[in-house]
Amino acid sequence: MASATDARYGQKESSDQNFDYMFKILIIGNSSVGKTSFLFRYADDSFTPAFVSTVGIDFKVKTIYRNDKRIKLQIWDTAGQERYRTITTAYYRGAMGFILMYDITNEESFNAVQDWWVLMSTQIKTYSWDNAQVLLVGNKCDMEDERVVAGERGRQLSEHLGFEFFEASAKDNINVKQTFERLVDIICEKMSESLDAADPAVTGAKQGPQLTEPPAAPHQDCAC
Ligand code: GTP
Ligand code: MG
Repeated sequence: MASATDARYGQKESSDQNFDYMFKILIIGNSSVGKTSFLFRYADDSFTPAFVSTVGIDFKVKTIYRNDKRIKLQIWDTAGQERYRTITTAYYRGAMGFILMYDITNEESFNAVQDWWVLMSTQIKTYSWDNAQVLLVGNKCDMEDERVVAGERGRQLSEHLGFEFFEASAKDNINVKQTFERLVDIICEKMSESLDAADPAVTGAKQGPQLTEPPAAPHQDCAC
């Protein structure tokens, strides 16, 4: 289903059914903020300075151990370009976590965060797990000389929207792993809270149909 903008995208691990949970995560934000770079840094520990704008949508799979659980992350890298908006928003359904990214050297990408949030929250309410979690990331923090968005503005916006916030650099590998791990942790925390409240959302009952091959049913007893 995913297009192949890069041969390195693959599904090597996607047939691996040996996991406790599978979390679907999306990275969204304006074109060129560094979504693809962020994913490649996390999944492959690689970075390329060349800009190859994503066509449509792609994904990578990475399995991590967190809180004694084997968690398979299906991370979708969306195209930021407007022309792909209809395609990419269709993939929001069923997402449990979002990384909403802007570029600290690009004011427009920061101003667009609110629009992305409106788009995302509409889709979340329509299709996704009600408890989908969001992290705001200001990428390219290695480019201090070209910074136009102060860290404080990012922090204030994240507080206003109710998200946690990281500044990061895919290039210098700053806060990349931490971002994903924090997102996984808050998804787990939310799952536990929902289970405590016997929320049927955790059972997947409110999720729309999966656009990807459904994995083996995750255990219902999150102890993260
Ligand atoms: P679309 O696919 O069009 O939505 O863009 P994208 O958000 O995926 O951006 P991409 O990852 O392709 O990165 C855009 C450009 O920014 C590339 O030239 C990257 O090398 C560069 N870049 C990405 N992350 C960083 C970073 O942390 N620091 C610096 N200095 N450059 C970065
Ligand atoms: Mg991209």
